[in-house]
Amino acid sequence: MHIKGKHILLGITSSIAAYKAAFLVRELIKSGAEVQVIMTKDATAFITPLTLSTLSKRPVYIDFFKPETGEWNNHVELGSWADIMLIAPATANTIAKMANGYCDNLLLATYLSAKCPVFFAPAMDLDMYAHPTTKTNIQKLSDNGNILIPAGKGELASGLDGEGRLAEIPEILQIIDNHFNPKLKGKRILITAGPTYEKIDPVRFIGNFSSGKMGFALAKAFAEQGANVHLVSGVTNQTANHPKIKVHSIVSADEMFDKCMEFLPKSDYIIMSAAVADFKPKSTAKNKIKKEKNDLKSIELIPNKDILFEMGKKKSKKQVLVGFALEDKNEVLNAKTKIEKKNLDYIVLNSLNDKGAGFGTDTNKVTLIDKKLKMIELPLASKTEIAKQLVELITK
Ligand code: CTP
Repeated sequence: MHIKGKHILLGITSSIAAYKAAFLVRELIKSGAEVQVIMTKDATAFITPLTLSTLSKRPVYIDFFKPETGEWNNHVELGSWADIMLIAPATANTIAKMANGYCDNLLLATYLSAKCPVFFAPAMDLDMYAHPTTKTNIQKLSDNGNILIPAGKGELASGLDGEGRLAEIPEILQIIDNHFNPKLKGKRILITAGPTYEKIDPVRFIGNFSSGKMGFALAKAFAEQGANVHLVSGVTNQTANHPKIKVHSIVSADEMFDKCMEFLPKSDYIIMSAAVADFKPKSTAKNKIKKEKNDLKSIELIPNKDILFEMGKKKSKKQVLVGFALEDKNEVLNAKTKIEKKNLDYIVLNSLNDKGAGFGTDTNKVTLIDKKLKMIELPLASKTEIAKQLVELITK
């Protein structure tokens, strides 16, 4: 564990899972951390401040001030004391307030003042967790650079079974430990994401439906492990708010090729998740093509450079090159052929026949195949989760 001596501000909100915060505090203290607990008022109904102050060996803060003495709990000082802030459990209500800048309790005021990394571990009933508003709020927090510790699946306090349980304590501890001892510190990563657009004229293009979600999730998963990521992305509405991710926006396959060649020699891992157009118009019309002329019967296409193939030719033995394959027939065979043809270390196979996988979805289901043709199937999960698993496997 690398938590020793670290200052951890633990925010506890009013979920039944608040009782688990006692175990969390105990483990953090055992690992040598200093833990300052801040609770919302309602959280005190689930677990007493006395329990938490005893375990953390510090007074627990709940209110802005003590009415008897007028003593002020300075949220700005608390925020700057902390190496990290961890909000666990984080209720739908607190998540909504955090996402919208509310500041009506000490915990929220401290969150708004904190300059350190903020982790949040949601815990709520499955329908609340699945609600589009909650999803949007969680996404907003992630986009703002907060680090989500996703809820787990299983038995819930309501008696229902599903996604919404507070992540298990060992998992939370592992994530915090990784933060202080990033496994991929100093590693340089090149990732491509999204579609390429091939211009027909100044306003039209040939493109595809790739959303860029998988590539951005991979960039984030690498960055969270301490790696420096160059993300070469086609047109997408994804954002990568992480200090370790540098986004290079491109439009066409040729532009992507140039950026990839620039960063290839400086990269330890290269992940080619972009949906590169295989063909482009032979020429791009200078002016907008007018329909009156009615002479656009066909567009002559020529092949784009195969970026992955070119990188496979140039890469050194030490560099790890990962391709993606989106197939709808003879999936495994085609993916295996690509490993050899393009000199890859791994290929991530997406099948168009799998529901919830591929372009545009928030989830994915992939098979990772290595160059010895060993296959690992990753069952359907969020792209964030799949990205984490892929990073773990690829960097093993
Ligand atoms: N790729 C690339 N440059 C291209 C086309 C594809 O770098 N011009 C990369 C993709 O980013 C992906 C991998 O190659 O990592 C597989 O792409 P795919 O389109 O599935 O395979 P192709 O080799 O283009 O073969 P086919 O279209 O026949 O399946």
